[in-house]
Order: sequence, then structure tokens, then C-alpha cells
Amino acid sequence: MEKQIKSNEVFTPSTSAKLTFVERESVNNQIVNALNTPGKQLVIYGHSGCGKTTLIVNKLMQIYENHITVRCTSTLTYEEIVLQAFDELNPYYQDSKVSTISNATSIKLASDYALIKAELGGTKTTTEQGTIKRVIPPKLTMQTLARFLGNAKCCFVLEDFHKINADEKTKVSQTMKLFVDMAEEYPELKIICIGAVDTGREVVQYDPELKSRVAEINVPLMTDTEIAQIIDIGFPLLNIEIPAFIKNNIIKVANGVPSVCHSICLQICFAMGIYTKSNSKIVIDMKMFESGIKGYIQDSSDSIKADFEIALVQRKGTYKNAMLIFKALSSFSMEGAEQHDLLLKIQETESKYPAGNLSSYLKQLVKSEKGAIIIKRANHYCFRSPIYKIYAEHITSNNYAGEITHDSINMDLKIVKEKIDYLTSQL
Ligand SMILES: Nc1ncnc2c1ncn2[C@@H]1O[C@H](COP(=O)(O)OP(=O)(O)OP(=O)(O)O)[C@@H](O)[C@H]1O
Ligand SMILES: [Mg+2]
Repeated sequence: MEKQIKSNEVFTPSTSAKLTFVERESVNNQIVNALNTPGKQLVIYGHSGCGKTTLIVNKLMQIYENHITVRCTSTLTYEEIVLQAFDELNPYYQDSKVSTISNATSIKLASDYALIKAELGGTKTTTEQGTIKRVIPPKLTMQTLARFLGNAKCCFVLEDFHKINADEKTKVSQTMKLFVDMAEEYPELKIICIGAVDTGREVVQYDPELKSRVAEINVPLMTDTEIAQIIDIGFPLLNIEIPAFIKNNIIKVANGVPSVCHSICLQICFAMGIYTKSNSKIVIDMKMFESGIKGYIQDSSDSIKADFEIALVQRKGTYKNAMLIFKALSSFSMEGAEQHDLLLKIQETESKYPAGNLSSYLKQLVKSEKGAIIIKRANHYCFRSPIYKIYAEHITSNNYAGEITHDSINMDLKIVKEKIDYLTSQL
């Protein structure tokens, strides 16, 4: 029997899209060319949720033999990165694989791998905190790892590169240099660092020599046409038809962020009771769309609240910067405003508000560590989605007598849900 496609395989708000993968014209060539150039290393950066991981996963599937991924955290050390990468390589050096490798170097590498693995297995020690820490054998250097990777024609993906601390970053750029130097021997050897917005330059700044050897690629938010493609590919797979005006509403709420689009589409499926491909064609109506939006708000309310909370954390200062920015920005349409117009808006109430505060806070507020409530599209700053805009309007509104307090964030998103009519009327 044919396998039934599930709605949560089509719409994937929190995993990489496969069935609905949309090619990203604006960066496609850059990525493909860099992947096909021996010795070229990659840094992929962009807004939270803009599609970096999905893009790389799909491109690697199309044009690269193998890849392994290590996810960075703030406490991950360089040694742990090496160790995790070594472990990830295990499938490529299992006995069955080894037997298909013929040349002498490969056989030698396979036996080196097995030796290090055996040594690692025997060096487990218990730290004071009771966690098991493995001691890296001296043989397992980045150079050795590079050989293992190169021999397996395996690309090394380092996710969330921005999270590791500066010392470890320096070591990662040294690794990139090493990979460049070893490309002669292993043309497929490559590292891809994926990081947050603005981290592009971070890798290269540690070593100017790397500049011409690294492709720094900024993945922009999606265009409305790209968002439309997710919808156009996705719903027919489930035998669902979507009228143009509802599609346009989803595009507006998504505002270039593909995860929001996936989330709303999936919620619409749930609202219609569609969990697998429908036997007969169903058409989405406005009521189903509204239920989908409500489901999306319900589903994301905790994270929206958390995003605002971290955005509003600030050391004592003259101005409540984030609140002032949110208030000013919510007086514009969803298109948002240029930095200068935002400044003028804030200065209508805070006449001495410094331009420097605005630019440094805007830089922070687009980062995921700060909630990424604001995004930058072309030269406009705007809210991440209309839902965020409504929430910002609410917490900065005059109901709080102009007094913008941190407590107002504790309001329930019920208010936003009640404003659903308002939202749809705004679209
Ligand atoms: N090219 C694409 N086609 C279809 N859907 C996509 C595409 N890119 C991303 N998405 C969807 O958008 C969401 C976010 O994508 P992804 O996780 O790749 O973004 P990211 O930039 O890696 O995010 P983060 O900064 O959180 O790591 C996912 O739901 C994914 O399914
Ligand atoms: Mg990602």
C-alpha cells in the first residue's frame, strides 16, 4: 500500500523542510559554487528561522556525498567539537564500509580510526560533578580528524557557531585554514559554519588570510514569492485547495519567516482534522484559516512571551530602550520604518533620545539571544510577524498610562487572541 503523506511531514515548523523545500534563488549559486570549489570554506549566516539549516541540508543532499553535524553551545570546547565530530564519523569507518575501501591510505586511516576509538573507549574518567569526560588521545588532532573527514568525502557542518566563546572561535578559524591547506590532498574536505545574523565576519576576522578562502553567505528572509511556494507545494500534497485570498493572508502573517508559514499551515490542517492526505479534495475557508491562526497563537504564545521578556531585559539606564523602540515601531505599518524615521518617532516623546542608543539596541533586538522580535528587511526594521506587532502594541499601549513596565509582559496573550478579528482586518 502507498504510504500516506502526513500533514506534519509536509509542514515542518520546527524541522528542516524536505517535501516543501523551496530553492533560494538569491543565494543558491553562491552556495553551490562554494560547495563545488575545493578548498573553499563556508560561513552561512542570517536571521533566526530564515532557513539556513534547511538550505544547507537540502543542498548537501543534492551535491555532496556525506556530511556530519556538530551543534555548538556556549560551553562546548574545541576539544569536545573534535570528539563529537570523531564520533559522528563512526558510520563511515564501520567494518562493512572499510572493506569496500581499497587503497592503502584508506586502509591505514580505517585502522587508525579503530585504534583511536578503542583508546577513547578506555579513557573514560569521572569528573567531580559526576559526569563522564573522555580524555582525547594525543593522536586525535584536528589534522587527523581532517584526514578521516576527507577520506570519507565528508563535509563538516558546525551549527550555531555564534554560541561558542571567542577562544574556541579562534581555533575554528585555524581549523578552516588547515582545511584550506589540506584541500590539495582531500578536495572534498570542507567546513560549513552556520551562525546567527551578523556573525558572518566573526570567523574571518580572526585570520585575515582566510578572507579569500571563505565564502560568507547571508541567507535573507524569504520573499513573499518563496513563502507562496511553500503553500503552493504543501497543500496539494495533502489534497487541499487554498483560495488565493487566504494564501495572501498567510503570506502577510508570515512576513518572510518560513517557520511561521509552516506553523500556520500545519495548524490549518489540524483545524480541518487533516492529519494525512485527504481522500477527497477539500477547500480551505476563512473559518479554517482563523482557527489556524488561533492555533498558531496558542502554540507560540509561550515563546512569544519569552521573546519579549528577554528583549526587555536591560541594565539600569535613562531609557527603557526596547520598549521605546517597540512603541515607536508599532505606530508604523507592518512594513516598518527606516532607522532615522524610528528615531524621529521616539524623539516625539523623548526629545533627547540618542541616535547611538537606537542603533545599538536595534542591532541587539534582531538577534535570537534577544528574542529576534524585530527583523531587518532591506533597509526597514519591522516586527517579526503581525502577531508580534499586535503584542507590542498591546504592552506599550496607553492602557498602561504611558508607563511602560516590565510587568505588562505578564499579560496573557488572550488579548492578542481577542484581537484576531483586528488582525485579519489588518491583512
Ligand atoms: N527553503 C525552504 N523551503 C521550505 N521551507 C523552509 C525553507 N527554509 C526553511 N524552511 C522552514 O522554515 C523553518 C526554519 O528553517 P531553518 O530551521 O532551516 O532556519 P534556520 O535559519 O536554520 O533557523 P535557526 O536560526 O533557528 O537555526 C523550518 O520550519 C523549515 O521547515
Ligand atoms: Mg538552524
